[in-house]
Amino acid sequence: MLTAFLWVLFGYLCGSIPFSFIIARLKGIDITQVGSGNVGGTNVLRSAGAFYGILSMILDVLKAFIPTFLALNFSGEIAYFVAFFTVIGHIYPIWLKFKGGKGVASTVGTYFALNPTLALIFYLIWLPLVLTTKYVSLASISTLSIIGFISFIYSPKLGLLNVLLALISIYKHRSNINRLLNKTERKTDIIEIFKN
Ligand code: G3P
Repeated sequence: MLTAFLWVLFGYLCGSIPFSFIIARLKGIDITQVGSGNVGGTNVLRSAGAFYGILSMILDVLKAFIPTFLALNFSGEIAYFVAFFTVIGHIYPIWLKFKGGKGVASTVGTYFALNPTLALIFYLIWLPLVLTTKYVSLASISTLSIIGFISFIYSPKLGLLNVLLALISIYKHRSNINRLLNKTERKTDIIEIFKN
């Protein structure tokens, strides 16, 4: 029991590392005060450029992948809880007074550890959606939901975990959903950002 608790705590603390906040700071930007105010790679991408944005996204994936992957080698059961709490750590980080991101990259990090095929499917759906609609939020919530349902093909446990993570992320995207409905959501033109 104590071991399980320590693994979950480890997962939460890894997830809590606010890479997007730290990386934007390297450019002198307070990510909570610009753009959507979200502590996430997309907001860094828009406000600090491609290099910093992609770096934030990669590190947010890794901070969830590493603890989940390590836990998986210890116990399959515990790994599911560690995966869940790494994403919770990202969304509610202890270091930022529990005001974190929306859990998209960190959820993908758990896919890489628990079932890499799901991570591949995620990007195969998410990227074309972002490129065509330019709405990262729409692409993120749609793709997380699709992956949640696809996960049941592999196992009920994985399905439950991924549906739960999708629901939490949709909840965290509620301001984006309102803006999408009002047609005031920010567009993110990845191609343009890469050209600059
Ligand atoms: O990963 C977060 C993304 O889906 C939305 O980010 O900054 O547009 O609210 P943002």
